[in-house]
Amino acid sequence: MQKSRGAERIAGLKSSAIRDILKITSRPEVISFAGGLPAPELFPLQEIADAAQNVLLKYGSSALQYSITEGLIPLREKIAKILDPDAKRLNIENILITQGSQQGLDLISKLFIDKGDMVFTETPSYLGALQSFQLFQADIIAIPSDEKGIRINKLLERLKEQKPKLIYLMPNFQNPSGTSLSMERRLKLIEIIKSHDLMLVEDDPYGELIFEGEKLPSLYNLGRSKNFIYMGSFSKTIAPGLRVAYVAGDKEIIQKLAVIKQGTDLHTNTFGQFIVNEYLENGNYYEHINQIRQTYKIRRDYMLSAIDRYSPKSVTWNRPAGGMFLWVNLPEGMDAQKILLRCLENDVAFVPGQEFFPDSSGKNTIRLNFSNANPENIEEGIRRIGEVLKAQI
Ligand SMILES: Cc1ncc(COP(=O)(O)O)c(C=O)c1O
Repeated sequence: MQKSRGAERIAGLKSSAIRDILKITSRPEVISFAGGLPAPELFPLQEIADAAQNVLLKYGSSALQYSITEGLIPLREKIAKILDPDAKRLNIENILITQGSQQGLDLISKLFIDKGDMVFTETPSYLGALQSFQLFQADIIAIPSDEKGIRINKLLERLKEQKPKLIYLMPNFQNPSGTSLSMERRLKLIEIIKSHDLMLVEDDPYGELIFEGEKLPSLYNLGRSKNFIYMGSFSKTIAPGLRVAYVAGDKEIIQKLAVIKQGTDLHTNTFGQFIVNEYLENGNYYEHINQIRQTYKIRRDYMLSAIDRYSPKSVTWNRPAGGMFLWVNLPEGMDAQKILLRCLENDVAFVPGQEFFPDSSGKNTIRLNFSNANPENIEEGIRRIGEVLKAQI
């Protein structure tokens, strides 16, 4: 057989199962809880149209020109202020604008990971991050989590034997399970990261989508040291198609990431950055986030109520206090992949949770997205899944 022309690191690469499921679910008759899409009817279309026009009138062709790799200076100033309202600690040198947080993950992987390096993740974890770490041939170590986030004693056990290059966490309403890291564990984690001199990557695209309870401080703000990198994104608060997100961290790390970004795409798209900057300056950003929160909370509640009515008794689920996802546990021994095949025959889709476990456990789990479905579809879709589950259990 002819030897592959691809690089060695490409050999183990497989397409995201979610993207494959999404291809099937694009049939209009399918009710899909599979994607991780924000609700498109909430995109601030008129505000973005106004912002785009204002940008062109105010800045002319410079809004369409090549620009600096680190990103638009006024946008970085605003982000520094959002993260550090007193503006005492952070400035533009701590911020790099990226083409979505997904690019942040790619750049961070390029900066830190050599073949065989260990990356610790909570379980389950974000598939796009796992793919990025795998592309750079990291050895991904799954640290067990529960409803309060990563389990600190399990992390400490691992740290006795191994030192990872990175620890990757989503402390707020994580993808896929919707759970958040408790305050107590945040504080313990900060101590551990510092005492073991580890590098923590905090990915926070869902932090603003909070429905109830108190907003907890980021690990980055609690940690305040070179050991912490924070990633934020406007994908879920404005629109993902703009592809504008950011990495915040120590100046030296940001500089290195910028050099890597030069070789990746020169800079994030200029017009998109100008539009986000204009929208933050003159649009209704925070009112808009409130509207998203209210709508998603209603959808979460519809989904919880429908699951409660239609699921067999042996099925359990969580109640996320924010974000876009809800997590379902089927009885031990059940295979969510098989359930999915039955569900697809009934024109309803979800993502089997196993996809999000680096160690391929979690066979009996399901991720349900509630942000991108209206109440009637939630009712009908959950009813159909419930029927399939009742027939199987
Ligand atoms: C946890 C997490 N990180 C990063 C991303 C990528 O987001 P984007 O590249 O649109 O900023 C996503 C997208 O769903 C996500 O769930």
